[in-house]
Amino acid sequence: MQAWEHHASVGLERVIDAVVDVAAPTPGVSVIDLGCGSGQLSLPMARKGAKVMAVDISPKMIDSLDRRAAELGLEIETAALPVQELEIEPSSVDLVVSNYAMHHLYDDEKRAVVVAATSWLKPGGRLVFGDMMFGRGATQADREIIASKVRVMLRRGPAGWWRIAKNAGRFWFRIRERPLPMDTWLQILRTAGLEDVRGIRVVSEAAVVVGTKPAA
Ligand SMILES: C[S@@+](CC[C@H](N)C(=O)[O-])C[C@H]1O[C@@H](n2cnc3c(N)ncnc32)[C@H](O)[C@@H]1O
Repeated sequence: MQAWEHHASVGLERVIDAVVDVAAPTPGVSVIDLGCGSGQLSLPMARKGAKVMAVDISPKMIDSLDRRAAELGLEIETAALPVQELEIEPSSVDLVVSNYAMHHLYDDEKRAVVVAATSWLKPGGRLVFGDMMFGRGATQADREIIASKVRVMLRRGPAGWWRIAKNAGRFWFRIRERPLPMDTWLQILRTAGLEDVRGIRVVSEAAVVVGTKPAA
């Protein structure tokens, strides 16, 4: 987990819930969770009976997810690798989901992952991504989101001030934190060939975008 999420993201839980609600997995559907962390999406989806494959670049996260799944008696296939290297049979998956992971990728990697994920989906399958979605201050909406994040951290005193300095550097220079505005995400999904593309703003900094692979 990165600092933004722990220290400035009011409502991360709401974004997780929104992704699960929008994805609405039913028993037996196949799901790929990109950047799964310790299973914030994978575990509730597996609990609903979905067949989940969870992927994360961090072997530590995958170990943690494996342990939690075993404790809960859930079967989840896991892979410790960068999502950019994931290879999946075309038209074989019902849902590709992700939460708070895509902002770590460079923009061309985000686009490539959406194109790849679209190819993995069965016709009628859906991509559902939640993430921090805002730009670097070009719009009034961006400026309000950034200001609200700064206000939350300012209230935390010296620890928060240090985080502002660290996160501002990362965000401004796009080191590890590379969010895109929701409209750009919607464009990425449409360009990849997804239909019925829409975005849902969940909390000020975060949104869920969803698109459906057209029938063949
Ligand atoms: C902030 S956590 C989010 C975890 C979880 N999805 C959630 O909703 O809480 C971001 C996760 O993305 C993973 N990640 C970052 N870059 C990745 C990449 N290129 N491929 C796979 N996972 C990646 C990190 O290891 C981390 O577990």
